[in-house]
This record gives sequence, C-alpha cells and structure tokens, in this order.
Amino acid sequence: MLACRIRFPLTLALACVLFSGPAAWAQSLTCSEMEEFLRLGKILQQRNIPKGVTLPTRATLEYNGRRHDAAVQTVDISKPSFQTTKGTELNFRDFWGYNVAGYELAKILELNMVPPYVARTVGGHQASLSWWVDGAIMELDRRNRKMEPPDLGGWNKQMYAVRVWHQLIFDADPNLTNLLISTDWQLWIIDCTRAFRTRKDLGDPKDLVQCDRKLLAKLRTLDKDELNQKLSHWLRKSEIDALVVRASKIVDFFDKEVAAKGEGAVLYDVPRTSQPCGAGL
Ligand SMILES: Nc1ncnc2c1ncn2[C@@H]1O[C@H](COP(=O)(O)OP(=O)(O)O)[C@@H](O)[C@H]1O
Ligand SMILES: [Mg+2]
Repeated sequence: MLACRIRFPLTLALACVLFSGPAAWAQSLTCSEMEEFLRLGKILQQRNIPKGVTLPTRATLEYNGRRHDAAVQTVDISKPSFQTTKGTELNFRDFWGYNVAGYELAKILELNMVPPYVARTVGGHQASLSWWVDGAIMELDRRNRKMEPPDLGGWNKQMYAVRVWHQLIFDADPNLTNLLISTDWQLWIIDCTRAFRTRKDLGDPKDLVQCDRKLLAKLRTLDKDELNQKLSHWLRKSEIDALVVRASKIVDFFDKEVAAKGEGAVLYDVPRTSQPCGAGL
C-alpha cells in the first residue's frame, strides 16, 4: 500500500482501492485454516485501533510464511447495572467470549457474514482474535461519505439478514461501526461483545422485514443440543435458552408474514449464505 502511494501518486485512488482487498492466498483458506492461523500465528506486532469503545488492538500475525492481521479483544466486564444510550441495562456484560460464540453460531447457521474469531491468550490475557477484513470500511463511514452500493437490491438483502442476526443474538450494541463492508461490497458483522442477552423477547421486532430462505430454514432446525455442545464454553445456559426462544419467535414472525403476504414478498436468497465461513475474506 505504501509502495503504491509512493510510485503512483496520480493513480493512487484507483490503484490502492483495487489492491487493498483480500490477498489471493487468504481467499483459498478454509474456515479451519483461518482459525488455525489466528490460533497459532506468531504475533509480530500489536497496535491500537483508533476506533471503538473497548479499545481492541490490531495485531500482525505470521504463520507458515504468510502474514495477516487480527483484531484482539480482551474485554470482560460484568456490572449489575450499566447506563447505555438506550437506558439502564441490568446484568450488563461486555465479554470477548461472545465474539467467539457469535462466530460459532454463524457457522452453525452457515451465514458467512461473521469473520472468523478464535479464543487465545495474548500477553497473559484471554482474548478473541478475529480475521482482519482487509480494505473494509465501516457502515458508519459509508453513510457519512454517501457511498451508494453498486447493487442496491443485493445490498438490502444482506442488510435484512444482518437485522435478523441482531434480533437473534440480542445485540445491545448494534452500532454502525460494527458492520464492515469489504471491497466486494459484502457486509461483515463484527463485535458481539454486548450480545447474547437473556431476554426472550425480540429487542426490535420492527427491524425484521424479509429473510434469507436458507437462514430461515437453519433457524427452524436450530438444535439446542448442538448449541449446548458448541457454545456452552462461551454462553451460559440461560443465554442459550433465550437464544433458542428468540430463534423460534423469528421463525413464527416470518411464517406469519409469508401466510399474510406470500412467500415471494418475504423470502429471498443471498448467494453467499451456505458458503464456508469467511469465504471471500
Ligand atoms: N476483524 C476486523 N477487521 C477489520 N476491522 C476491524 C475488525 N475488528 C475490529 N475492527 C475495527 O476496529 C473497531 C473496533 O473494534 P470492535 O471489535 O468493534 O471493538 P469496540 O467497538 O468494542 O471497541 C471496529 O469498529 C473496526 O473499525
Ligand atoms: Mg465495536
């Protein structure tokens, strides 16, 4: 990127935008290979990220001669009550482990909209490490810069899936800095550290509009035993129980919408769902 700036200042805008996306080697990795990279890669350097609330860091990792960055999150705060912009939240928890739970849940749902997250100890602290989405901009910046997605229909479909996800995990902090847009205009959901609340209602049911068919089918068959097996390391029983109840409420909502409006008006297909996790990163 720096070389790009020095050698071709006049074509900077185009060339750097085109080449700041994912590396070819990274795009061919499977989910478990990306996870292995994050878990075992040597941390070469760590620096602050000038964004966000809980101040995660950005680390450069090296593994098998390849380098890639990761976001390192160590937050683990529990409070009986916490003042947020939306009001007072009781039994507040901000926890790095929810990031890993979010990724594992996205894999169960074959959503492919959450970049890989793993658990690992960094500098003596337990942390989540996420695969850095190269060249991404935050949804907040996209809106501020008034950048229009090239395919508005496809964009809306992705956004509706994001909304379903936020209702499912009951994210108390679904802000626009937690949604990244990669260079191919794919949306990536990050930062679940304030999600997985034990509430069994949907926080904002009005946010549900339409649903991806495969996501709805996965929600319909969500298996509590599988969730317990794969998520109980990060989530308490009450958090998993609430998740299952919210999933069935989402399914009920869309079933009623289909009955009232017809399937074509409610369900659609996002091509990237059912692909491996992190495909395209
Ligand atoms: N995997 C990632 N890829 C690219 N950017 C990231 C990634 N994780 C975090 N970031 C950047 O760092 C910012 C802060 O990280 P985040 O996990 O949201 O922590 P918090 O908001 O709690 O400080 C994000 O808004 C985003 O700009
Ligand atoms: Mg954030």
